[in-house]
Amino acid sequence: MKVAIGFDHGGVTLRDAVIEVLTGLGHEIVDFGTTGPEAVDYPDYATRVAEAVASGQCERGVLACGTGIGMSIAANKVAGCYAALLSNCFSARMAAQHNAANVACLGGRVTAPELAKAILQAYFEAEPDSADRHHRRREKVCQIEKGNSQ
Ligand code: RB5
Repeated sequence: MKVAIGFDHGGVTLRDAVIEVLTGLGHEIVDFGTTGPEAVDYPDYATRVAEAVASGQCERGVLACGTGIGMSIAANKVAGCYAALLSNCFSARMAAQHNAANVACLGGRVTAPELAKAILQAYFEAEPDSADRHHRRREKVCQIEKGNSQ
């Protein structure tokens, strides 16, 4: 699949690990930067990746900042982007299966590269669960996005 990636200076330490996993799994990378340690603003990168995924240009995305928190908050402001902050392999699998999260967020100051690789492996190997209850719950989330929450 096509995968959008984006980092700020706090997350760029995971860049090589992210690229290694995605390449190893045979995915095509659409790279929105950043590539170096100079300070940048995480919302700029979150928006680019979230819009690439929400528009259908990419199927999924990966974002990393220092904690992953800023990237996940910003990415989730884009309609059609469902970003999950991941810190373990179980949550990574569930984010894909139950939540159909289309963007994985990581913290470069929280999660070591080897764990980040395992988390991404788990996330990308999992598919959304099509069971009715999960579909119903995901549909309710979409309704919130459209301003139709109950
Ligand atoms: C940048 O210093 C830091 O705030 C950013 O990488 C991220 O952790 C924000 O949530």
